[in-house]
Amino acid sequence: MKISTFFKAATVILFAGMTAAVAVPNLNNPVEDHLPVKRGGMVVTGSLYPGGPEVNLTGTIDQIFPKLKQVYPELEPVFEPTTLSTPDTPSVVKRAPAAKPTCFSGNPADRYVIYNHALPYLRAIKSFTCSLPSGGGCTNVYCAPAPAANIRVCNPWFVTRRIPCSAILDVAEVIVKDCVDGPQKGIRGQINAVYNGIRFQVAIGTTVCLDSGSPLFGG
Ligand SMILES: *[C@@H]1O[C@H](CO)[C@@H](O)[C@H](O)[C@H]1NC(C)=O
Repeated sequence: MKISTFFKAATVILFAGMTAAVAVPNLNNPVEDHLPVKRGGMVVTGSLYPGGPEVNLTGTIDQIFPKLKQVYPELEPVFEPTTLSTPDTPSVVKRAPAAKPTCFSGNPADRYVIYNHALPYLRAIKSFTCSLPSGGGCTNVYCAPAPAANIRVCNPWFVTRRIPCSAILDVAEVIVKDCVDGPQKGIRGQINAVYNGIRFQVAIGTTVCLDSGSPLFGG
């Protein structure tokens, strides 16, 4: 059952050029994309500024932020109200061959949560390094259960890759700009991107939040 739903997802969503790829999440089914997935949150390493104390933390941003503040008390969420109307097109997305956003209908992520919780934390950590999950699949960058809102980063390859957290932010901002859906103006979509030759995907949707205690968590 689980295997067959995974193959179904893999068949439905294929991306050019990903010969060793696993399925990128099908946002219409919150279960399918969990199968190959590390759901315990991403690994954040590096420092806030050159020469600053190095961190190595695992979790969603909301989980690791208190620990980051112990190391960097000056760290605060970064609010940018202008994001709503005038985001720049990030160069990281421009370089991606398959960078056209894919926006989905269906249950969008809660816009208020994305604007006021997810993005400000992601901006705050943008100078750190984010590890793409090893073993292929996706991991939560930010996840709120109610109102539901989720930003995920996915890695089509089976080895860990590291990219600046700013690259994830850049792609998330494009999804936020382009994939507004429904009367509540929720946000739902995913983009394939490339940073320095490293392919990755960012998805925003309403996938359920799983933590490291879940049997689906790949460790
Ligand atoms: C972070 O910690 C993990 C677990 O101890 C380790 O495997 C990994 O290599 C560390 N990453 C960096 C960049 O130091």
